[in-house]
Amino acid sequence: MEFVLYEQKGAVGVITISREKALNALNSTVLEELDKTLDAVNLDEVRALILTGAGEKSFVAGADIGEMSSLTKAEGEAFGKKGNDVFRKLETFPIPVIAAINGFALGGGCEIAMSCDIRICSENAVFGQPEVGLGITPGFGGTQRLARLVGAGMAKQMIYTARNIKADEAFRIGLVNAVYPAEELMPAAEKMAADIAKNAPIAVRNCKKAINEGLDVDMDAAIVIEEKLFGDCFETEDQTYGMAFFLDKNKEKVKEPFKNC
Ligand code: CAA
Repeated sequence: MEFVLYEQKGAVGVITISREKALNALNSTVLEELDKTLDAVNLDEVRALILTGAGEKSFVAGADIGEMSSLTKAEGEAFGKKGNDVFRKLETFPIPVIAAINGFALGGGCEIAMSCDIRICSENAVFGQPEVGLGITPGFGGTQRLARLVGAGMAKQMIYTARNIKADEAFRIGLVNAVYPAEELMPAAEKMAADIAKNAPIAVRNCKKAINEGLDVDMDAAIVIEEKLFGDCFETEDQTYGMAFFLDKNKEKVKEPFKNC
């Protein structure tokens, strides 16, 4: 791959968008490579993903403005779909994805972060949806996910004014869960991913599905989704083992890793 790096560290996969000379901006090739990278993740071994950007300045500075500058109406719509398809794949990816936002997260950069399950950032991170200043709307899910994450009022303010916000404000409005000094960001992301990976993998996947799918429907339908996924866990060896371990009163016992089955 030219612009997307992937490394598996035990049960954690790290995806790095690496197009540093354009501050990791998303052109068509980056989007295609991201799509292929997700398809290649070994889901028998990997239990959580981290998404980050190469370098110390930028997570992702948006969709590639040079590539977009000459698009027609139909091409613009197709480019939006290309981004939306891969971001939706990330959002519905079976295992949790942590965005480790190490700098600019503007436009498509803020949008890809919002497609992840959890966002943490470095103190130098900057967030924003600058699209209306370029004569376009946010096109990779920003109008939808920002409103769902921080509320319609704050999302409208950010999108209509195109004003960037710093890490502390992103934390205050709930766009990120935590802010770290730059050098502590990846260790924190890796620790969080490892904590997730220690838990029963099928249960974790079912939690992601229940939260995501439940948020799209009313509460009556949502709790039915939860009941089904809760019930499914009782067919797993992880549930048999996890509960037997708790009930076993032998103090010498050591907890085995969950088996993913
Ligand atoms: N697309 C293409 N190239 C980009 C880019 C982008 N989104 N962002 C940065 N770059 C390129 C710059 O053109 C520059 O390239 P050259 O060295 O060849 O000139 C290089 O990255 C470094 O950028 P700057 O010199 O501008 O760096 P800076 O530190 O002065 O500024 C910045 C950093 C504030 C992030 C600035 O680069 C910037 O404002 N970038 C654009 C941010 C933006 O508007 N993003 C939204 C894009 S639209 C979108 O994403 C639509 C959508 O929803 C799908």
